[in-house]
Amino acid sequence: MTAGIDGKVIVLTGASSGIGAATARLLAAKGARLMIGARGQERLSHIQNEITAAGGICQSQIVDVSDAASVSALVAAALSAYGQVDVLINNAGVMPISMLDQLRVAEWDAMVDINLKGVLYGVAAVLPIFRAQKSGHIITTASTAAHKTVAGQSVYSATKFAVRAFCEGLRQEAGRDFRVTVISPGMTQTAFASHITDPAMRERLEKAGTDIAISPDALARAMAFAIEQPDDVDVGEIIVRPTAQP
Ligand SMILES: NC(=O)c1ccc[n+]([C@@H]2O[C@H](COP(=O)([O-])OP(=O)(O)OC[C@H]3O[C@@H](n4cnc5c(N)ncnc54)[C@H](OP(=O)(O)O)[C@@H]3O)[C@@H](O)[C@H]2O)c1
Repeated sequence: MTAGIDGKVIVLTGASSGIGAATARLLAAKGARLMIGARGQERLSHIQNEITAAGGICQSQIVDVSDAASVSALVAAALSAYGQVDVLINNAGVMPISMLDQLRVAEWDAMVDINLKGVLYGVAAVLPIFRAQKSGHIITTASTAAHKTVAGQSVYSATKFAVRAFCEGLRQEAGRDFRVTVISPGMTQTAFASHITDPAMRERLEKAGTDIAISPDALARAMAFAIEQPDDVDVGEIIVRPTAQP
């Protein structure tokens, strides 16, 4: 794998909005060849068209990261389009947070299926490729909730703690063959809070978002920093949060 970003083939999930969309725009501007995925066709096509209109190289495919076959198909599409895969960014995630007493069990399932199992499926899809190439880079979006748990965020936080633990094991098993990075955002201005179904919790998060949240561009720059390091430099983890975040 060559150092830098120019020419690298990057598969990016959750690319239709927020941190993923900002990352796709920045990496394309730096010369990456992208395969972007998300569930909703309309927003995904919008980002793809925006990038290609600006001169970037970007293809897209619908993906549901909670379905292993769907994630494999996304990676296969990148291989078939570009002949190689250099970086996988496991960025798709959901945060329908609520107090446990509300027993929103279907939402707990969704967080485990998307935030945790989605990452495992991404790794399963690229691992044989990276072993064969003896190069590659797996970047996963965790959260400051992967470092600190607060009431109302137990299940979300549990999925993100698990992702960090998993990525540390993956890093150790990777050896010299590929790099493993975790990017942990704090409060970031995205569509995230709008998916919270508990009205009080949504209002609280939306207010915090308005008061202190940072631009998703800050996370995109962190992703780019990790990718553009020399091959023998593995940026293990970056936490990027608002200065004002407690
Ligand atoms: N915003 C924050 O304050 C914050 C803080 C810490 C961590 N994070 C993490 O940052 C990552 C990105 O979130 P964001 O803030 O940018 O939120 P966002 O604006 O809601 O974007 C989430 C993206 O993930 C996609 N997605 C959701 N479920 C998916 C699935 N099952 N399969 C494929 N794609 C799926 C969404 O598109 P579709 O719905 O169309 O699939 C969208 O493109 C997440 O992992 C999140 O946990 C965010």
